[in-house]
Amino acid sequence: MRLLMVCLGNICRSPLAEGIMKAKAKKYNIDIEVDSAGTAAYHVGEMPDSRSMEVAFKNGIDLSDQRARKFQTSDFDRFDKILAMDRYNFSDLAAKARNGSDSAKIEMILNKTSPGENRDVPDPYYGGKDGFDKVYKMLDDACEVIAQEIASGS
Ligand code: 4NP
Repeated sequence: MRLLMVCLGNICRSPLAEGIMKAKAKKYNIDIEVDSAGTAAYHVGEMPDSRSMEVAFKNGIDLSDQRARKFQTSDFDRFDKILAMDRYNFSDLAAKARNGSDSAKIEMILNKTSPGENRDVPDPYYGGKDGFDKVYKMLDDACEVIAQEIASGS
């Protein structure tokens, strides 16, 4: 299973989702590939936002090897599931899909914990540190569900 986490800048939410998902893969001993990307190019080549690095580090996860990159259409070929952080990421991705098989790979990540509700992971970029703690918890819960689904073969 190859999973791609996608947000806008690939510096706040999706790097956290990538780091958390990799930690879950270790915890459940599942063999998955995880990466992240942004729909925008503003921060390409940058390390994750220091506030994302900090909340991850507090939870035993190191994001310092990650560098932001922009989503590419070829990612539809490289990944089995593409998990959007919010509705804007979802519609940007849907607009890039070349066919039904591409579209079927895109999911709202919080539908893992709130099925069918299409909830957004709020963009924490312009807010305070508490926003990053909230985002961490949402992503940790969603990645836990994803890991359990993969571990149980569903
Ligand atoms: P992210 O957060 O999409 O979670 O990485 C953002 C990062 C940067 C910007 C917006 C959101 N920005 O406008 O530069």
